[in-house]
Amino acid sequence: MKKTIRAGIIATACFLIHTAHAQKQFIVKANEVKATIQPTMWGIFFEDINFGADGGLYAELVKNRSFEFNMPMMGWKLVNDKEADASTLIINRQQANTVNPRFIRVSRNNTAGTVQLINEGFKGMGIKQNEQYNFSGNTLAEGTIHPTGNNWQLYKTNCIAAATEAKAVLSVAIEGKGSIDMDMISLFPEHTWKNRPGGLRADLVQLLADLHPGFLRFPGGCIVEGRDLATRYQWKKTIGDVNKRKLIINRWNTEFAHRPAPDYYQSFGLGFYEYFQLAEDLGASPLPILNCGMACQFNTAEVADMEQIDPYVQDALDLVEFANGDLTTKWGALRASLGHPAPFNLKMMGIGNEQWGPQFIERYRLFAKAIKSKYPTIQLINSVGPDPDGDKFTYLNDTLRKLQADVLDEHYYRSPSWFFSNAKRYDQYPRNGSKIFAGEYAAQSVVAVSPLNRNNWLCALSEAAFMTGLERNADVVSMASYAPLLAHTEGWQWTPDLIWFDNLHAYPTPNYYVQKLYGNNKGTQTVPITLNNEAVAGQDSLYASAAIDQTSHELIIKIVNAAGKAQQGNILLEGINKLDTKAQLTLLQNNNTEAVNSFDGIVNIAPQQQEMAIKDKTASLLLAPYSFAVIRIKIL
Ligand code: AHR
Repeated sequence: MKKTIRAGIIATACFLIHTAHAQKQFIVKANEVKATIQPTMWGIFFEDINFGADGGLYAELVKNRSFEFNMPMMGWKLVNDKEADASTLIINRQQANTVNPRFIRVSRNNTAGTVQLINEGFKGMGIKQNEQYNFSGNTLAEGTIHPTGNNWQLYKTNCIAAATEAKAVLSVAIEGKGSIDMDMISLFPEHTWKNRPGGLRADLVQLLADLHPGFLRFPGGCIVEGRDLATRYQWKKTIGDVNKRKLIINRWNTEFAHRPAPDYYQSFGLGFYEYFQLAEDLGASPLPILNCGMACQFNTAEVADMEQIDPYVQDALDLVEFANGDLTTKWGALRASLGHPAPFNLKMMGIGNEQWGPQFIERYRLFAKAIKSKYPTIQLINSVGPDPDGDKFTYLNDTLRKLQADVLDEHYYRSPSWFFSNAKRYDQYPRNGSKIFAGEYAAQSVVAVSPLNRNNWLCALSEAAFMTGLERNADVVSMASYAPLLAHTEGWQWTPDLIWFDNLHAYPTPNYYVQKLYGNNKGTQTVPITLNNEAVAGQDSLYASAAIDQTSHELIIKIVNAAGKAQQGNILLEGINKLDTKAQLTLLQNNNTEAVNSFDGIVNIAPQQQEMAIKDKTASLLLAPYSFAVIRIKIL
């Protein structure tokens, strides 16, 4: 008899445990607003790394168009057949043109045979059938070819491509006897983003636009700092006539011995004017990052003498005027002359990229004083170093908070397990004082800087889980951006990256789709979602956040199931009088956490949409294994 009773108790206990696993009761309190979500919340971080600008977003197809690479013929070769007698000469007119001193002279001593100057492009040139390509070059016509004068002139022509080719080259055929001097030899597709001449690659910008980013951070990243101060990013050298933008070596050219990129330079064809224009096109707040008188501390760690730091501070002040100044100001007038009389509405700016140590604080104080006294409403973003913990972080975090810094820029290139376990990171942060910008983050499938890191589903899922914590703490976290953004499949230095592209195509990673679901389902205020009266931040591998969108009158719920089994969820929707009986469910899911997307039409992870029913103010759904679900419900 006793035995039978004991068995019954055990059976009952098992049943209860089973029930608890089978049916998670989430509670959303839609009328308890916890925080306002900043319009800037989910943004993008652009850096010219992985051939992100030249050879990537900037649609120029000719590599080394101005012969200013250290090896002036890099990317070029003269090809002539046996009968032709031809040669090239690189001429330097340094005194006449300090920013673009070199040009090429091609001489032909006879008219027999063919002579071609060939450019290989950036890993070839992507050419699409039936699209128009615009060729141009500054040419000094001489001899029998163009006897129109001895001055530099811009010549243009165009052609329609007969076929699609990922690895095309440009051939400039030179006919007749004599010599011709050429510079700025350029080939662009007619179809660029908004069809701007000399513009950006339309397919890549479209992918950025689809994220609906709240801000656009630019130009980086370590590229802001330079390996030394001489190669730091200087915005004033990136605006105006492209012929007058002095090319420099890209710091990622030699950064990693395992990923050499000897042909990686910065032409600045995508410069600061194009940047502001792009931010405006995307509806994103501009977030420029300025050098603060410090070169990369992983490289030379060179700092500008404090006695000589004024030009650096002046650059920051002038950038505000360039973006916002009216037409009576020097820099505002220049912006207008470039084609944008209206201000770009700059509201924030980063001082230094990933700096650390007392020398950063010394310089930050100077910048903050100068900028705040002239432009008190500009919000300043400051680095708290390369890691989210440790001595460098603690020193900067404590010091900058005491100095009442506006926004602290935290970086985390960590494992997926770090991201999962840090979903609560900001729950305990001070609610007042400095805000947080999760300025660079990406889960690393191996370890930061490993060339074996992959954009796999586990990494993306862990980021989705972590981001529920950012959203739940929107009163503390005002901005976040994945990094890096772009990578050429044949030219990358750093992996993982949000978008991979080649000369013709691009594919979004699972991480991209996570960012996209957040950017497109932002909401305006966070509201609590709980499981067993606690924030949903890892119990049974579940993570969740909830928001209302006061503009579209919707409730938006995000749930990550990081377990390898399905879990039944009942979400009780409290604090709302009336809800639609149908909701929109968007799902990212894959049973294989190693799964990746790639070219060749392989899209293992992409959003799938379906309708779901809402009954008795309850959303019931089976949370698939390894899934990220976004639910939107109309508030009636
Ligand atoms: O995103 C790649 C690099 O990582 C950035 O340039 C730098 O800020 C960080 O160390």
